[in-house]
Amino acid sequence: MTSSSTRREVQSVAGAGSSLPYAEAPAKGGAVVSHASTGLARQRHLLDIDSLSPEEITSLLDSAEGMLEVLGRDVKKTPALRGKTIVTVFYENSTRTRISFEEAGKILGADVINVSVSSSSVSKGESLYNTALTLQAMHVDALIIRHPHAGAPHFVARHVKAPVVNAGDGMHAHPTQALLDLFTLRQRLGGIAGKRVAIVGDVLYSRVARSGIIGLLRMGAQVVVCGPPTLMPYGWLPGSAPAGSWYEGLEIAESVEQALDGADAVMALRIQQERQDAGHLPDLREYSNRYGINRKRLSLAKEGALLMHPGPMNEGVEISSEVAHGAQSVIEEQVRNGVALRMAVLYALCSRGRDQAAAQERP
Ligand code: CP
Repeated sequence: MTSSSTRREVQSVAGAGSSLPYAEAPAKGGAVVSHASTGLARQRHLLDIDSLSPEEITSLLDSAEGMLEVLGRDVKKTPALRGKTIVTVFYENSTRTRISFEEAGKILGADVINVSVSSSSVSKGESLYNTALTLQAMHVDALIIRHPHAGAPHFVARHVKAPVVNAGDGMHAHPTQALLDLFTLRQRLGGIAGKRVAIVGDVLYSRVARSGIIGLLRMGAQVVVCGPPTLMPYGWLPGSAPAGSWYEGLEIAESVEQALDGADAVMALRIQQERQDAGHLPDLREYSNRYGINRKRLSLAKEGALLMHPGPMNEGVEISSEVAHGAQSVIEEQVRNGVALRMAVLYALCSRGRDQAAAQERP
């Protein structure tokens, strides 16, 4: 439970009249619990979406709703994480994820330090382990890490006390992207369960696809994927993913037309040229002809279906400029929702110590 002072503080974040994100909300079964204690109740870190229950995901999305209200204010500044220091360490380039984490932390009142790998001691050969220990010695309150190697954030999390957030590790996972996509779908479609979501393109190398598929399935969506056979994970053949696997319930379409048929939302994936050896695609123009999302293909989905892309886009390859900037596109909304969702994640992870300290202070 939050203390009354903590509750007052967090209510001031989202506005006293706000029905959710931090005010106490009824849990299943009628018990009253605080969002700060349920958003990531079992987690010290956010390393992947695999470890989140549907209730934890729902709680984070509820919290992000309140954060979005904060983002819409003229003065976007709250004291919720005042005194906390958040460090972002990006070993790979990023625009959306790094800047939105920085904005999210600053709006919540935290100090945010961005470590540029090219100007840090990493460029002198410092290991990931020693970089982690160095940051740990500086008593940072959260570490946001992007790394080209799968598992790097998990390795760091084993060696530091601060919460670690995976901001994308190789072709493995991108949990906050999956959460912001779920948030966007829930907002626009009124729910996620039962909605048909088509994911098209480079599934093999996409951490967005992997985390997104697991998150969508966990929330009850119908998920269908399609892409060139050379860009699908080994053994993923047209049909259904095997029962008992992480991907149970996933449909693997034979053609992009089959995938898009009746979809409530279509997600185009970026061709991850930086992770591919040569030989996966004969030619980008052919890829675009066979798999690119354009007006004709989008018309196969439900009328008004949402068009999503995690960014950055290769316009003219996996998505045409016309639809990327057209009426069905929610790509810019995904970016804005990313700030709100990352505020919710930072709040859930970084305010926990404060709640515990406040509880210990009570007589
Ligand atoms: N979607 C995404 O991760 O974008 P960035 O690489 O710009 O962070």
